[in-house]
Amino acid sequence: MSNSASSSNIVLITGANKGIGFEIAKQLGQHEGYHILVGSRDAAAGAKAVETLKKAGSFVEAITIDVTDDKSIDAAAQAVKSKFGRLDVLINNAGISLDSHVNDPTGKATIRSIYERTFAVNIFGAAATTDAFVPLLEKSPAARVIFVSSDLGSLAHRADPQGRHHYVDAPAYRASKAAMNMLALGYAHRYREKGWKVNIHNPGYTATDLNKHTGPGTVEDAAKNAVRLATLGADGETATYTEKEGILPW
Ligand SMILES: NC(=O)c1ccc[n+]([C@@H]2O[C@H](COP(=O)([O-])OP(=O)(O)OC[C@H]3O[C@@H](n4cnc5c(N)ncnc54)[C@H](OP(=O)(O)O)[C@@H]3O)[C@@H](O)[C@H]2O)c1
Repeated sequence: MSNSASSSNIVLITGANKGIGFEIAKQLGQHEGYHILVGSRDAAAGAKAVETLKKAGSFVEAITIDVTDDKSIDAAAQAVKSKFGRLDVLINNAGISLDSHVNDPTGKATIRSIYERTFAVNIFGAAATTDAFVPLLEKSPAARVIFVSSDLGSLAHRADPQGRHHYVDAPAYRASKAAMNMLALGYAHRYREKGWKVNIHNPGYTATDLNKHTGPGTVEDAAKNAVRLATLGADGETATYTEKEGILPW
């Protein structure tokens, strides 16, 4: 297998030092022709993840990026520009969930603080990161952008008393993922004519640190559809909201 960085698709995954992002890096990094930049806000965590991924046979390297910090985002974009001159695949995976009872057992955080912190990562972070990497994606012959959202962002499911996860409250998280879906569609619209494939991925309820491992799903399953979207051919879809089982209602 040959994955020399110069001839490979260059992929950046934010929040890839653990959880679903790590698993996407693992699976995609084993595909021929994909060189993965493992984004992490903590350099030591990124280096540790890369060490593990390399042992698993993935073609990876670490890059530091905190999506709430414009300086960090710009430094990461500058590093990718200097080293590769382009970016082929951006996976906006970094995310947090604060309003679930499992993550705020004291119940003391104010609603404003929960919304501000959740949106800072899940929405403002994804928007600022995507915008910063647009000039490098424009240099790619086949740009792919994936937004790791959630079925909890589905307005259709939320509005339907029989809808999936209708009982789950988590208002800030749900609102942030609904907003992320609209953010993604903006990029899909703007770059459709240029042939970019911009799509939204739902990993499904998965056991990770985000939910204190309460999710029933595995990271292996959660990563699959993201890998499919990252490797779409020229005839692939754009502006979709999918999971491994198929299309989700908006
Ligand atoms: N798990 C689920 O059931 C589920 C379901 C649907 C959607 N999702 C989505 O899947 C994505 C990955 O979540 P996960 O379940 O894998 O959670 P996770 O294990 O907690 O991983 C989240 C990742 O995001 C990173 N991150 C958090 N804040 C960041 C920031 N400011 N800048 C850069 N990176 C940051 C974390 O870094 P640190 O290690 O430094 O904290 C970590 O690498 C999220 O967008 C989440 O909303 C998850």
